[in-house]
Amino acid sequence: MEESARIEKGLQALEAWALPAIEGVEELEALEQIRIRVLGRKGELTEILRSLGAFRPDMRREAGQKANALKAKIENALQQRQQVLRAALHDGLAVQDAIDITLPGRPVRQGSLHPLTATLYEIVEIFQRLGFSVAEGPEVELDYYNFEALNIPKDHPARDMQDTFYVTDEVLLRTHTSPVQIRVMEAQPPPVRIVAPGRVYRRDADPTHSPMFHQVEGLLVDHGVSFADLKGTLQAFVDQFFGVGTPLRFRPSFFPFTEPSAEVDIACMMCKGTGCRVCKGSGFLEILGAGMVDPAVFCMVGYDPEITGFAFGMGVERITMLRHGIDDIRLFFENDLRFLQQFPAL
Ligand code: DAH
Repeated sequence: MEESARIEKGLQALEAWALPAIEGVEELEALEQIRIRVLGRKGELTEILRSLGAFRPDMRREAGQKANALKAKIENALQQRQQVLRAALHDGLAVQDAIDITLPGRPVRQGSLHPLTATLYEIVEIFQRLGFSVAEGPEVELDYYNFEALNIPKDHPARDMQDTFYVTDEVLLRTHTSPVQIRVMEAQPPPVRIVAPGRVYRRDADPTHSPMFHQVEGLLVDHGVSFADLKGTLQAFVDQFFGVGTPLRFRPSFFPFTEPSAEVDIACMMCKGTGCRVCKGSGFLEILGAGMVDPAVFCMVGYDPEITGFAFGMGVERITMLRHGIDDIRLFFENDLRFLQQFPAL
């Protein structure tokens, strides 16, 4: 009897602390500690249940029923508290991790073509619409193609105009895109109608000269091609690129690979031809060199020297600077986003 009274007391004491403790606990971790303390392998209630084994069967049943009833009560309380705490944890996370859909999104940065690339594409596209196709040649070129075959022999004074980067005596970085003319004519018979865009190199660096820059070469060879065809083709280009009716002016000039040769100007787009700082008061801006292909060049590629053709070459940087009013060529190659972002995607 004494024994069962002791058990009864133990159960009461256990109930008295365990149930309020379960109710008051705020953390799942602490709740688990309570469970272990009561129901774990060495828990208080576990010990009580185990001690019943030593009782007389009739006493064991009565005390056992009470102990099991308390066990069920505590398990129930534990389970309910666990549900509450889990739900609270979940709600907390939901608030903490919530996405504020009213926030403005981060802008997606959109890239755009480099102004030189945009200009180059535009030039090429205009000539493609006029029936020209695109040809390319190497940037590391033979002296033969860059000079010799273009009627510029070794001692020719025209070589001085082009401050050349030499790799060896016979190998150099091309100083212009004109060698592509030779390569194309060597590879195919007339008629020829190509433009050749690409990089060229000269030992030159100041606000209007860069050691690497871009040119677009043009070459048209066929029977009966005249200077009027050259002029008409260039006028068509200028109309599309600079605006319809842009005045064009041909000035006599000299290139070893064309005869006659001309430098071609457009009316200054800043002052419309009245004279300003950009055109240095002349009212005109030079945009390219051109001429009728010299028969000596046709001979070099094995063409009949009686065939006719015209050629032209323009600087992409120069044209881009004129168009956008840029006064320093180095801006193109510094990759400063503040500069580049002024040329939005086309
Ligand atoms: N190759 C010349 C230069 O870089 C430009 C040029 C002039 C190209 C006249 C031509 C041409 O095709 O006919 O200065």
